Amino acid sequence: MNSRRYSGMVIFAGNAGNPLSEKVCKQLCSDPAKAEVSRFTDSEINIQLLENVRDCDTFIINPTNPPAENLLEMVFLADAARRSSAGRITLVIPYLGYNRQDRKDRPRVPISAKVIAEILSLSGAGRVLVFDLHSEPTMGFFTNNIVVDHLYGSFVSIPYLKDILGDNFVVASPDKGGGPRAEAYANRLGLGDYVLFSKSRPKPNEISKGLIKIIGEVDGKDVLFVDDMIDTGGTIIADTEAAKNAGARNIYVFATHAVLSKGAVERLDKSPIKEVIVTDTIHHDPKEFETEKVKFTVLSVASLLAEAIRRIHNGESLSSLFY
Ligand code: R5P
Repeated sequence: MNSRRYSGMVIFAGNAGNPLSEKVCKQLCSDPAKAEVSRFTDSEINIQLLENVRDCDTFIINPTNPPAENLLEMVFLADAARRSSAGRITLVIPYLGYNRQDRKDRPRVPISAKVIAEILSLSGAGRVLVFDLHSEPTMGFFTNNIVVDHLYGSFVSIPYLKDILGDNFVVASPDKGGGPRAEAYANRLGLGDYVLFSKSRPKPNEISKGLIKIIGEVDGKDVLFVDDMIDTGGTIIADTEAAKNAGARNIYVFATHAVLSKGAVERLDKSPIKEVIVTDTIHHDPKEFETEKVKFTVLSVASLLAEAIRRIHNGESLSSLFY
């Protein structure tokens, strides 16, 4: 692999990034670089790079879920690389935690997404590669002249979805914020429009089930919901129940990030969904997806990340990967 500016490429991972980084490295015909990423007796994070990185093009892969520890592992790995004279440091963040907290929507709350982006910006990295952000304005939260590239789950999901969807389907957004994403999927799947599920939230994390309005027609059709993530499953379960009551046939859900907080898989397994499709931006043991009713499919983003890393390293354009 030719580098125009750096002596070589090295790829490190934090604990949450290990399974994905192994797959990415396999695609790039290399091995993950060796690093100690463990805990001291008092639980503080213990980092040491076990390989020379002087002048190297250095990539650090870690989804920040659960957020706090994985975020710190990533920042410390970057600082260790900077202090070891790495040539350029790129943070590869398949899932960026706190991204939903991107605005001051209630009194006396922080804009946590901005704080997280600022912490990452001070890590010594010069570049960040993020994946299907909850909110695109977050890219502007990074400071310190850090360069941000943004890849999308649709790159891996669209070919799969084209295979499983029949002729009579609609694409749906679970909420107003997801409208542009649903519109993009509808267009890429050959439809002119999408269906919007609009709801009121009396409190954060609470959905008024009786108040879901469906703007568009689902009666007699298969429905594909697209979202950036499934966390508790609350949003998507409420919407899919409303869709079923409105006459939807088979219901599919694609969400890039399988946050799947405790109990979410069991709750989804009792929902009217036929198939949940997610990616491996957040690692789960396949056993977690051994369900009774709802099929879970995990698509891998490893080839896409490997190709993006290869192009960044070689100074090639990423734009054909941006969908
Ligand atoms: C909301 O704006 C997001 O796009 C997701 O729909 C939401 O965060 C998913 O969370 P949960 O599964 O807990 O409803």
